Amino acid sequence: TPNGTLYDRIGPEHLHALLTRFYRCVGHDPLLAPLFPDDLGHTLEKQFAFMSGFLGGPPLYHQRFGHPRLRARHLPFPITPEHARAWLSCMKTALDETPQIERADAAEYYAALTKVALHMVNSPSAAQ
Ligand code: HEM
Repeated sequence: TPNGTLYDRIGPEHLHALLTRFYRCVGHDPLLAPLFPDDLGHTLEKQFAFMSGFLGGPPLYHQRFGHPRLRARHLPFPITPEHARAWLSCMKTALDETPQIERADAAEYYAALTKVALHMVNSPSAAQ
């Protein structure tokens, strides 16, 4: 039965494993990889800090870097609906590869991320 926040239910260890799998997918995705630095280690640790607070756990990102201003921070990158879909697809793959996370928790996390990912779209579709 679900108790506490999503962070309490998932735990830092499984969250970190999830994000490791997520960035492995991002690094191999033809649409996403060109936007990111070659070494994703730093990106992973920043995302772990952000997700910790996002899921209701320790606000590590805020403590270290201040307000994330997520949409403004993503404006330098042209993010199309296709990029958002690819980002979410990598997250779905990573959640599927992390069965230690309860499926109900995975679904709740994914639904929350879907809203934020769509909010990050700042460029029109590249499709003809
Ligand atoms: C940083 C792309 C969605 C949270 C970044 C960076 C890129 C990027 C290229 C910079 C990486 C770096 O320099 O290390 C994208 C794309 C998305 C997306 C293509 C598709 C919709 C999201 C979502 C969230 C998020 C949904 C949160 C729920 C962050 C955070 C950072 C970041 C916390 C680190 C910010 C910092 O440098 O302090 N993203 N992102 N992103 N993204 Fe995203």
